Amino acid sequence: MFTLDESEQVTHWYNVVADLPTPPPPPLHPGTREPVGPDDLGPLFPIELIMQEVTTERYVEIPDPVREVYRQYRPSPLFRARRWEQRLGTPARIYYKYEGVSPAGSHKTNTAVPQVYYNSLHGITRLTTETGAGQWGTALSYAAALFDVQCEVWQVGASFDTKPQRRTLIEVFGGTVHRSPSRLTESGKAFPEDHSGSLGIAISEAVEVAAQAEDTKYALGSVLNHVLLHQTVIGEETLRQLAKAGESAVDLVVGCAGGGSNFAGLAFPFLREKLAGTQDPRILAVEPSSCPTLTRGEYRYDFGDTAGLTPLMKMYTLGHDFVPSPIHAGGLRYHGMAPLVSHAVHEGLIDATALDQTECFEAGLEFARTQGIVAAPESSHALAQARREALAARDSGEEKVIVIGLSGHGLLELGAYDAFLGGRLEDDPLSDADLASALAGVPEV
Ligand SMILES: Cc1ncc(COP(=O)(O)O)c(C=O)c1O
Repeated sequence: MFTLDESEQVTHWYNVVADLPTPPPPPLHPGTREPVGPDDLGPLFPIELIMQEVTTERYVEIPDPVREVYRQYRPSPLFRARRWEQRLGTPARIYYKYEGVSPAGSHKTNTAVPQVYYNSLHGITRLTTETGAGQWGTALSYAAALFDVQCEVWQVGASFDTKPQRRTLIEVFGGTVHRSPSRLTESGKAFPEDHSGSLGIAISEAVEVAAQAEDTKYALGSVLNHVLLHQTVIGEETLRQLAKAGESAVDLVVGCAGGGSNFAGLAFPFLREKLAGTQDPRILAVEPSSCPTLTRGEYRYDFGDTAGLTPLMKMYTLGHDFVPSPIHAGGLRYHGMAPLVSHAVHEGLIDATALDQTECFEAGLEFARTQGIVAAPESSHALAQARREALAARDSGEEKVIVIGLSGHGLLELGAYDAFLGGRLEDDPLSDADLASALAGVPEV
């Protein structure tokens, strides 16, 4: 395990926009279709987050109260997966950066804390949000408790039904949970009550409620630039920890991508090094074959939510009313992808691939049985791809250095592992017909 001393703590988030060869296309107002300005975002976000959304500064200082909470679980450990390497018989050196040590059990706490902190500076008393796997809702609920803010969560129906313990954990931290689609919003009422839901619908519900109350704002757990910015503590720490491990050149950086935040958090500091010419890693995002946004979606302007309440973002999308099949990696069931990740993929700086969930659970089991960590179903996508690469290195005899983003633990997702162990888990890759009909709903811009 490679840790960092107090004096080596990360003090700044890294903003990849400063180093990208071409600027990412701006978000557009859903009504006027003109680039959105700070005033358009004011009803939803505090000014600090709006400024972080648009900044071109390379580094943003992490405020002291946020660093104080980070110190509870950061730096998160970087491990070398020696027993897994042996099991695979690979000459590759596999490292994994483990975000499961945070209070919520995933990387989501890294952005929940600053988001709540900035809102608390403006007297905001309530935050609304969506949650897919339940990890983000948990993280926001915990952060809200620290800064004395109420937290109201719309949890995607499919995960609300299958993960009651996530709901309980959100409530333990003081948050309130609604099954989405709920009867509390117009966006929710547009769907039958027993609908399995989607992140797009849950976002519409949370945005709708926040936009109507002065003392309430909205918090998003992924996708937006400021969220990705906060997650870069992951990659910054990893670079320092790898240096301690004696590694100066990484061959592969791999992470799972739902909305893109944990992946970007690990990958963007490596992308900085790549663009500066100090390292040349392949940077690879892994998504589920049933929600293959980067690999089969189209790069165009689309809404971030189902009801069309958010700005239009240029991103890879499967269509904002796409409802992915209820796979167990709930956090990867999002129709779009962070505009910054999308842009980097479109520019050829980052690659993407899609995997079936059974292969991911298979890798998750092997990892648990060698490293002792039960990975979140989302994170197991990164493990499965790393496994493929490690086996290819075994066959070619190459001593590759692989770095995995292990975004969270799966101790509250044991139902999913149980389904896999019991042979009840199926793959459901997106069909061409479903893809075509979902893309038909993307607006012409
Ligand atoms: C453990 C874990 N990993 C990954 C994700 C995917 O989100 P993102 O792509 O924003 O990291 C989630 C989302 O809920 C998650 O809980």
